[in-house]
Amino acid sequence: MKEQLIIFDTTLRDGEQSPGASMTRDEKKVRIAKALERLRVDVIEAGFPAASPGDFEAVQAVAKVIKDSTVCGLSRALDNDIDRAGAALKDASRSRIHTFIATSPIHMQMKLHMTPEQVIEHAVRAVKRARQYTDDVEFSPEDAGRSEEDFLCRILEAVIDAGARTLNIPDTVGYSVPQQFGATIANLIHRIPNSDKAIFSVHCHNDLGLAVANSLAAVMNGARQVECTINGLGERAGNASLEEVVMAVRTRQDVFACQTRIETREILTCSKLVSSITGFPVQPNKAIVGANAFAHEAGIHQDGVLKSRETYEIMRAEDVGWSANRMVLGKHSGRNAFKTRMNELGIEFNSEEEINDAFSRFKQLADKKHEIFDEDLQALISEVGFEA
Ligand code: KIV
Ligand code: ZN
Repeated sequence: MKEQLIIFDTTLRDGEQSPGASMTRDEKKVRIAKALERLRVDVIEAGFPAASPGDFEAVQAVAKVIKDSTVCGLSRALDNDIDRAGAALKDASRSRIHTFIATSPIHMQMKLHMTPEQVIEHAVRAVKRARQYTDDVEFSPEDAGRSEEDFLCRILEAVIDAGARTLNIPDTVGYSVPQQFGATIANLIHRIPNSDKAIFSVHCHNDLGLAVANSLAAVMNGARQVECTINGLGERAGNASLEEVVMAVRTRQDVFACQTRIETREILTCSKLVSSITGFPVQPNKAIVGANAFAHEAGIHQDGVLKSRETYEIMRAEDVGWSANRMVLGKHSGRNAFKTRMNELGIEFNSEEEINDAFSRFKQLADKKHEIFDEDLQALISEVGFEA
């Protein structure tokens, strides 16, 4: 039996920090939370209760209805933030408080105006206070990607002693690269004397387009929780995309020592729901959930897939919620795909000449039109007068 990789979804918190993606009404957040629960995410970060009365109410509303996932609230390492998170999560079946403070030299000096010692004191105090509300406390050294490893070791050892059970290593500004980030995770686990008392987690931003790669490198080096969002939504260039992390781990079980409990067939529904509520469209070539993710247009590919899907598909479209893969008929399509689609439409050809004639008309049309739809094929057939 493989170890579990905990999937921590932060669509409702970091995802909502996408400029323009505000999910204003509680009812919308609750709809997304229920979809995440059906997806079987382990932890739903529902918001930042101290940020605003609206955020508080949204976390409270999510905490009341979700039964199968842990509901988490974010808080700075401040007494009031922690108390607000504790209050918002009061009705949750399982609750987690996630508290954070920055640990990089630039954040400590320019933003917090604190010494490293003061930062450790705040972190320890925050974790102890959070433990008064729940046994499940997560701590994040914000901007860990640009923090000194020695200082990370010190603060993480101290917060474990204070009662933190998940240590989340955020690459807040998406600065890390996979090999180096993976090595950092391995070093932390190895160097922190009490590291066996906590689960290591990662939270990667996508400023260099490396959020998923960095998360996976961390998993290969011992991280057992990944923080991610549906469609990769999130602050600036976004967070690691849940669907990509989950399907990479599932598809490459030969290289990962762990597995998730995600119900992958719910992925597409979740993606569409988040896209419609936030108004953020999913780009067609987005892995897993983009309209073209399982579409084939090139003739050689179509021919291969018609003979055996594994020739050009590493996952089954149905496993992530699509009803099937899709053959796009266009100028790159081959004869086999054309004939197969025609047969599916009930059109049988009586001779090779008929096929050749129809196929050459189809190619002429495809030169003028980007994608050929079923209606175009019907029209083409009625022009030449084949029997349907
Ligand atoms: O990116 C970040 O550092 C965060 C923390 C609050 C975990 O979102
Ligand atoms: Zn973040």
